[in-house]
Amino acid sequence: MHTVKHRPEDDQNLHFAYADRHMTGGVPKFDIPDEGMDARVAYRIIHDEMQLDGNPALNLASFVTTWMEPEARMLLQETADKNIVDQDEYPQTEEIHQRVVSMMGRMFNAPKDKDPVGTCTIGSSEAIMLGLLAHKWSWKKKMQAAGKPTDKPNVVFSADVHTCWEKFARYFDVEMRVVPLKEDQFYMTADQLPEYVDENTCAVGCVVGTTFTGQLDDVKGVNEYLLGLKKDKGWDIPIHVDGASGGFVAPFFYPEVEWDFRLEQVRSINTSNHKFGLVFPGCGTVIFRDRSDLPEELVFNITYLGGSMPNYSLNFSRASSMVLLQYYNFLRLGKEGYRKIMTNIMENAQYLEKKLLELGHFELLNESKYLPTVTVRLKDRKLPKEVVYMLSDLLRQYGWIVPAYPLPPKADTVHVLRMVVKENFTRDMAEKFAQDIELCWKKLKDEAQEFSTMLANQSGKGKIC
Ligand SMILES: Cc1ncc(COP(=O)(O)O)c(C=O)c1O
Repeated sequence: MHTVKHRPEDDQNLHFAYADRHMTGGVPKFDIPDEGMDARVAYRIIHDEMQLDGNPALNLASFVTTWMEPEARMLLQETADKNIVDQDEYPQTEEIHQRVVSMMGRMFNAPKDKDPVGTCTIGSSEAIMLGLLAHKWSWKKKMQAAGKPTDKPNVVFSADVHTCWEKFARYFDVEMRVVPLKEDQFYMTADQLPEYVDENTCAVGCVVGTTFTGQLDDVKGVNEYLLGLKKDKGWDIPIHVDGASGGFVAPFFYPEVEWDFRLEQVRSINTSNHKFGLVFPGCGTVIFRDRSDLPEELVFNITYLGGSMPNYSLNFSRASSMVLLQYYNFLRLGKEGYRKIMTNIMENAQYLEKKLLELGHFELLNESKYLPTVTVRLKDRKLPKEVVYMLSDLLRQYGWIVPAYPLPPKADTVHVLRMVVKENFTRDMAEKFAQDIELCWKKLKDEAQEFSTMLANQSGKGKIC
């Protein structure tokens, strides 16, 4: 019989990842290791460590896409090595980028006689900064031409905005004028504007789908107010619409609502393609109603990558994958596919809303009419605010990730739980979530009861410190 002798070099071939010394010796954390390791070991270490994260499918906190089709994943892998900024080397990637921008301009109803332009960004934060920066620049040129001072620009928006608006104001040295919320109104209306807007206002911001409650600012009302100012005082103040979340829901679920380029003063819109554009993070877009809304001084001609390439961005290099994935979704889904998906997620959000209300502990802040988000507060106002935070913690035990937070100033006595329904959140998951939150509620109640009994028994025996 033939016997196979053990040879030392066989150890290389029989290298099991979990037999590697790094599995017991600890992995490098602070300094780059002097020597490398086997690819399979490096992969397993990182892959396994990632299991400690939350499960994206159960993450109801985030608006960001957590699922794409296998073909999209293939494209992601295939295109991760192409830098989107190298337009000269990768002209076809740039061609597709332009197609995506064009499709989005039309999706936002850019007028036929205009020439919408735009760019894909890393997300809505960059897109908002680019939009507002363009308006600041245009305002400055206008004021200079009129011989007026340019040292006090301001931007007006409601307290319902995402922090990136405040970031813009601070980073780009613009005064921010924040329209406060009210205890019973969590979005901005035009009647609130007169005390905030003046000749130094570079732009008014409106949100279509607020991060906090999913409601819409009254863009149409704001447009009418600004048209009035243009007529009466000659101030041509643009609106930048933050459609980070609503930009892909509105065109397919409530196309009749006018909030986009159909309104004259809406000069720029941003959206997060990585939210309801259904693309993995990070991709956003800013679209200007017309080429004239983007001052040419802000577009840099890059020559050192070969050729001459126009560039308007804060970030420079990044993989082209996400823009190509957005194009994939446009081709794959078409308007019909987007309409069906948006209808499904909105219906599932409304179903979740109904199931939660049936439990009897919660009150809705708004109906899920504009965004697939369900935002609730405690029905019993006498209960301590901490209850929503405890529920959020307990839900983690069942895998669910649900944020609890106070609303912005003037409405910050309201503490909420907010669930974002994404396309992978099925009706069965809604049922399961409602069951789990009820279990958490019972647990909280039982523990509170147990705790007060303990405290009662404790009195006389010395206090718990
Ligand atoms: C209304 C709104 N604007 C802006 C942002 C920032 O978007 P991004 O994360 O794509 O930079 C968000 C993020 O949730 C948002 O909800």
